[in-house]
Amino acid sequence: MQIQSPFELVLFGGLGDLALRKLLPALYLLQRDNRLPEGKILCLTRQALSDDDFQERIRASVRHQVPADCLDENTWAVFCQKLRCVTLDLDDEAQFEHLKSALSAQDINRLYYLATGSDLYTQICAGLHRHGLINAASKIVLEKPIGHDFASAQQINAAVADYFAESQIYRIDHYLGKETVQNLLVLRFANSLFESQWNQRYIDHIQITISESLGVEKRAGFYDHVGAMRDMFQNHLLQLLCITAMEPPARLEPDAVRDEKVKVLRALKPITGDAISEKVVCGQYDAGVSEGKPVPRYRDEPGVDIKSMTETFVAAKVEIDNWRWAGVPFYLRTGKRLAERACEIVVHFKAIPHSIFPLQHKNTMANKLVFRLQPDEGIRLMICEKRVGPGMNVRPMNLSLNPANHKQTRVPEAYERLLFDALSGNATLFLRNDELLEAWRWVDPILKNWEESEQRPEPYTSGTWGPAAATLLLAKDGRLWDENS
Ligand code: BG6
Repeated sequence: MQIQSPFELVLFGGLGDLALRKLLPALYLLQRDNRLPEGKILCLTRQALSDDDFQERIRASVRHQVPADCLDENTWAVFCQKLRCVTLDLDDEAQFEHLKSALSAQDINRLYYLATGSDLYTQICAGLHRHGLINAASKIVLEKPIGHDFASAQQINAAVADYFAESQIYRIDHYLGKETVQNLLVLRFANSLFESQWNQRYIDHIQITISESLGVEKRAGFYDHVGAMRDMFQNHLLQLLCITAMEPPARLEPDAVRDEKVKVLRALKPITGDAISEKVVCGQYDAGVSEGKPVPRYRDEPGVDIKSMTETFVAAKVEIDNWRWAGVPFYLRTGKRLAERACEIVVHFKAIPHSIFPLQHKNTMANKLVFRLQPDEGIRLMICEKRVGPGMNVRPMNLSLNPANHKQTRVPEAYERLLFDALSGNATLFLRNDELLEAWRWVDPILKNWEESEQRPEPYTSGTWGPAAATLLLAKDGRLWDENS
């Protein structure tokens, strides 16, 4: 697939945190790989900037975010020619004309990217419509979280649907663009070896962790109203769960894949009432030491309400009520200020029924398949081997499923892949309306319960693996989180 040329990419929130840290560096890397044809990238900002200031801000962020060996003057020169700064204050109707005059009058490949809060999506779409800026060739990318619960997500989706057909809407979840997620699809559906084992007969349980060592950083204004459930769990974690648990799609096509993911979401066992405190843990970080430095508690971070009840950690035992996964718990967790930055999907296979080797403890030696999404992507299989020497001693060993030569290729950033896909019209890795709503439907009762109970999230020390209740969540089932096993 290729990006149809010329293209126009219109970034709302064009110099915001996401645009500067992720989107513009990813576009630069696409340019460097000669995958960006002729076109324009319009960054919409409220403040008027001189061309020099505008370019310098983007250049500084590209320098900071892109690996040094990918920086070169020629690429920058070509990339820079595509950049335009357009002033647009959404509350000033007349300013949409600035945008209109910067866009082509033809129906060309145009992508609107809404890197703003989802409370602005309706206003943006209505403004584009009033100024005749939407046509059949236009597409729109919506950043997460879309809404703050089921009802608001439904409302936003319905409003956007007044202006764009579902086939023109790309709901992004950047975790689906990560290389190892693609590899998980290949490993599952291009190998009969694993797929034949991928069910309750052979799998004991699955753990999915997205841990961050960073705290809330400069995003308190956003995060303190959102929290880990809406920021990470409802989208990234549930999407990773879907890709791990879905049935094989008939084809690698958008609706075939999304049909299977939505079936998983519909089969999630609801967690309501008393089950919430049994199966879901929420925490908030306390002061501690992170990456060797003392760090403050969440409530003392700049911009955070001193009485904030916002959760910075969530762990849950999730069950899927279907034939394949009956009795196989999925333990999901995410948090800020945890012991390390990592993202892993760990498939724990059942232990052998009986060991014939004297020193082999059958449970701790059970096979594990680990998909590591970050920081160092890779897949490894933990199997047992004989320790060299006398006797019959069995020990675990990790078999890397990524030969060294793969590591010589630069692993593209998730946003590189997803921006390319959206610009070239491939929606496979983007969410459909019904998926988004099913995910909200499942988390809604938990969020409502937390709000109504006004129960404070359990504190945990920064730099650890979260609150004690998270350890207990698995201990109750006779299991351990992977870092302890
Ligand atoms: C974003 C969240 O979606 O993902 C952030 O809003 C989080 O809070 C980020 O830090 C993590 O993404 P990554 O790719 O760095 O793991």
